[in-house]
Amino acid sequence: MAATCVIGLQWGDEAKGKLVDLLAPRNDIVVRYQGGANAGHTVVCGSEVYKLHHIPSGILSSQITNVIAPGVVIEPNMLIKEIEGLEARGIEPRKNLIISERAHVVMPWHFVEDKATNRAVVAGESIGTTNRGIGPCYRDKVGRTHAMRITDLFSDQLKSKISDTVAAKRHMLSHLAEAADLESLDAEKIHEQCSRWAATLGSLSADTTNFLLDELDAGKRLLMEGAQGSLLDIDHGTYPFVTSSNASGVGVSAGSGVPAKWITNVIGVAKAYSTRVGGGPFPTELLDETGQRIREIGREYGTTTGRPRRCGWFDAVAVRYTARLSGIHYLSLMMMDVLSHFDTIQVCVAYELNGERINRFPCRAEDLRKCKPIYETLPGWNVDVSNVRNLVDFPSNARRYMDRISELISVPIGVLSVGPDREQTIFLI
Ligand code: GDP
Ligand code: IMO
Ligand code: MG
Repeated sequence: MAATCVIGLQWGDEAKGKLVDLLAPRNDIVVRYQGGANAGHTVVCGSEVYKLHHIPSGILSSQITNVIAPGVVIEPNMLIKEIEGLEARGIEPRKNLIISERAHVVMPWHFVEDKATNRAVVAGESIGTTNRGIGPCYRDKVGRTHAMRITDLFSDQLKSKISDTVAAKRHMLSHLAEAADLESLDAEKIHEQCSRWAATLGSLSADTTNFLLDELDAGKRLLMEGAQGSLLDIDHGTYPFVTSSNASGVGVSAGSGVPAKWITNVIGVAKAYSTRVGGGPFPTELLDETGQRIREIGREYGTTTGRPRRCGWFDAVAVRYTARLSGIHYLSLMMMDVLSHFDTIQVCVAYELNGERINRFPCRAEDLRKCKPIYETLPGWNVDVSNVRNLVDFPSNARRYMDRISELISVPIGVLSVGPDREQTIFLI
């Protein structure tokens, strides 16, 4: 097997980090290939909790190489903090972490831009970004003229590039309320900061594209760690309430440089219910006590921003769409324990849009906002399943629930999770 992918099927936070940490020892290299510090991937290992933003979730296995590929946008201050945080806990990421010299850098002006545009309303609602400069950095990457890559940190032209860009940004963004923040950006200080980043990250940066291709040729196994979720994909998600990268399975090759011919296994990760952070339509959202109960039992608060996550029932229309889009072979169904104490559980099997029943996930956010979920009600199991370690030990109503989800999205279940810890996992593959 060459490359296995772990892809979020909802709006992020499906517990991709937990699964990647567990699958890492079956592989040689773990690769993050899109997104940036907007991601917050949690790995729980006994009493230790690790929250990773840039660094791949294979970092806890010292024998595995971890790669940050060209499609990731790196904020060096946060990356260095992450490295130092792990070092303080006895992990040595400098020994097994490689950063692509092609990856783009989130610069100080990107934070100013993110803050300014985050307030702006899109279709009556703001996107509610993570304020990590992600959108502005990807915008400059595509625009090309004001972008900064890791390799540029080592260039002779760095100083002039920074002063030109600061001047251009001030000019372009002078109409923003945050223009004052831009005025305070000092090219000299930014250059000094970049030189420090170069000194700290220099020994870690390399041509990861050729490295991965060489390793594949040599028979090594790769684990591709998706960030965000397929419904936040820039091209296929709930646009414009999405992130700025291809967060579904279709983004793996572009972001990593690993061509499709190597991808042999794609695992889709979904919670047994739904959550979303930030703005945008969410048909099965529960604004009542049930939603609050899911939030409290599932501790649904953002890993990166601490924001309460919006909670709702499982949406099989959305996940059927993303499972097909991302080319999923197996489903990893997480948080089964959180649904342990409900008399009945609802699953959205179709939408009603303008009086008609539809099974297809609509393209327009305005239409999705108007969709009313059509629910199927299943009996709850009312038994704590957090100690279940075998499929046969689940209560029959829990089996019925997972079978129904698998049937609705036409994907077999490969992994079940009943709690945050590594041990609270049942592998069927
Ligand atoms: P990611 O961004 O997809 O890696 O997910 P996050 O780490 O942002 O959020 C998932 C949260 O759920 C983390 O706090 C995990 O420790 C926790 N978690 C993972 N699996 C389970 C599970 O099966 N049950 C419960 N209750 N929590 C889980
Ligand atoms: P992980 O990898 C959940 C959401 C933000 C916002 C939208 C755009 O931990 O699953 P951005 O800062 O990317 O421009 O924000 O996307 N978002 C996430 N939601 N999990 C994430 O990552 C997310 N990364 C971004 O809340 O709605
Ligand atoms: Mg997360």
